[in-house]
Amino acid sequence: MALQFAVVNGPNLNRLGKRENHHYGSQTWNSIFKELEMFGRAHDISLEAFQSNSEGALIDYLQEVEFRVQGILFNPGAYAHTSIALRDCVASLSVPVVEVHLSKIGKRESFRTHSYIAEVAEGYIVGFGAFGYSLGLKLLHDHFKQG
Ligand code: DQA
Repeated sequence: MALQFAVVNGPNLNRLGKRENHHYGSQTWNSIFKELEMFGRAHDISLEAFQSNSEGALIDYLQEVEFRVQGILFNPGAYAHTSIALRDCVASLSVPVVEVHLSKIGKRESFRTHSYIAEVAEGYIVGFGAFGYSLGLKLLHDHFKQG
């Protein structure tokens, strides 16, 4: 049976490719998502993507998408370090969430070292750049195909 996953990006991730490339790389989100879709096509996974700069919109989306997907890849951006509301939302979801960060957040400013989301996510991938999304997708795929 085909799997359906959501890939969700928080604030400023729409600016990938033109934003602090030394931390986030030069690939745009469109190009990253094309690679994910290629993996998806090869493994019978359909993907939907959502990005918002707003905390409430992310919460609304996560609350409604859990009814049509089996898993979620989530880069909460800076909200990882600040948002108890998003943490509570993720904790309430009935599907596994894998948190992804492109940069090595543990090796940057001290305010980035803690993620509220990590406490409630099933998986946590940091520091692999755009490849982290592919790793997360594979992780979710293997979770359902092998578990
Ligand atoms: C990020 C890390 C966050 O600290 C930062 O605010 C981002 C991107 C990452 O993918 O490395 O917006 O989530």
